[in-house]
Amino acid sequence: MAHLAIIGTGYVGLTTGACLAHLGHDVVCADIDEEKIAVLLQGEVPIVEEGLDDLVAEGLASGGLRFVVGAAKAVSDCEAAFLCVPTPQGDDGSVDLTYIEAAARELAGTMPSETVVVNKSTVPVGSTRVVERFLERSDVAVVSNPEFLREGSAVRDFLEPDRIIIGSDDQDAANRVASLYEGVDAPILITDPASAETIKYAANAFLATKLSFVNALAAVCEGVGADVGDVVMGLGYDRRIGHQYLQPGPGWGGSCFPKDTSALLRIAESGGYDFQFLGGVIAVNEEQFSRVAEKVCQAAGGTLTERTVAVWGLTFKAGTDDMRDSPALSVINLLLSAGATVRAYDPTVTSHRGGIDERVEVGPDPLAVCRNADVLVVLTEWDEFGAVDPVEVAALMSGSGLVDTRNILDRDAWTGHGFEYTGIGR
Ligand code: UDX
Repeated sequence: MAHLAIIGTGYVGLTTGACLAHLGHDVVCADIDEEKIAVLLQGEVPIVEEGLDDLVAEGLASGGLRFVVGAAKAVSDCEAAFLCVPTPQGDDGSVDLTYIEAAARELAGTMPSETVVVNKSTVPVGSTRVVERFLERSDVAVVSNPEFLREGSAVRDFLEPDRIIIGSDDQDAANRVASLYEGVDAPILITDPASAETIKYAANAFLATKLSFVNALAAVCEGVGADVGDVVMGLGYDRRIGHQYLQPGPGWGGSCFPKDTSALLRIAESGGYDFQFLGGVIAVNEEQFSRVAEKVCQAAGGTLTERTVAVWGLTFKAGTDDMRDSPALSVINLLLSAGATVRAYDPTVTSHRGGIDERVEVGPDPLAVCRNADVLVVLTEWDEFGAVDPVEVAALMSGSGLVDTRNILDRDAWTGHGFEYTGIGR
């Protein structure tokens, strides 16, 4: 059991702290946001993550998980301090290390000697050295330990990871970090910091590449009359390709892929390589938003002027309430620009928030937003949409256009009730 400090209580920090406490460590989580800490001390978890509230309750009850305001209070007797603060995208696409620097400088003055600083935030290659400079503590080692958590399955991804990556030139520090994961059954790769940081970006960039490939392939399928569902089924039997992560959609989004793919372009450029291929992956994704908007326009009869569009789904994927860089918001903005009136529903969005254009009317349920709509477009793959009765929707809508960007609705059932169904790649 080790005394650990977690700096930052967002979905990475809170998941990391709660899971490390579950593994038996003594964990103190710190944040600069007093309100957030007050809520957490009440046992309320402010983010939607399956199983996280149970782990937080377990940790609070056992005393193995505590919350304080300010990093300095968390590190007074810790053996390792995890940096889990935001690393947002700067205006020029680079990674903003402001929060990392502020946290490191706050830790520098209070950490005990021989503490290990564990960098879990996604930072550009070379940042471990940067954090060492911020700390100016020769008696403190900095280790890269990138996270591979998906929103909506962060707890499972932490406790049952495909791998644990540790980047450090200090073998003892690396071994100390590896020992914290005792009880987690996964291969541990210890490498140098630059390689560990590169693995993180490479993983997200490759996953985004796989998605842009399948979205581009869906466009080919539409052109040649193939069904992308069967095509990716046939693809996935090749064990080198696999069936996972080949679901076409409105494009990829979220708080990581857009930020990390742009960051990797700049990191490559700083290393003297023009990563054009990755630029293409990003361009295909941007194009997907326009392709979806064009499908909606065609479904509305060739124009969106004075047309009403019902939107099902606002979050960047099902299973989360996060709308950061959501493809749904990108598509909605294109529809608004083309003159459409947009009414949107999402099970996790009960009021206007986080990036929704103020012209969008946010509705209370899937049917309410369909009233007098010319077209219905599905942008997020929430299960509840598949359970809505097409008969009820048809009775409410004034048009019959349906664009299913997640291919989740029963095409025959909806077509059978008079809808003109448009999917992605089929
Ligand atoms: C991602 C990585 O998966 C995770 O390892 C990393 O640590 C953080 O970024 P996350 O952003 O939570 O996780 O979402 P993910 O589930 O990977 O989906 C990313 C985007 O791809 C979403 O917009 C999702 O809708 C889309 N997607 C995913 C598809 O369109 N099709 C798929 O088959 C899978």
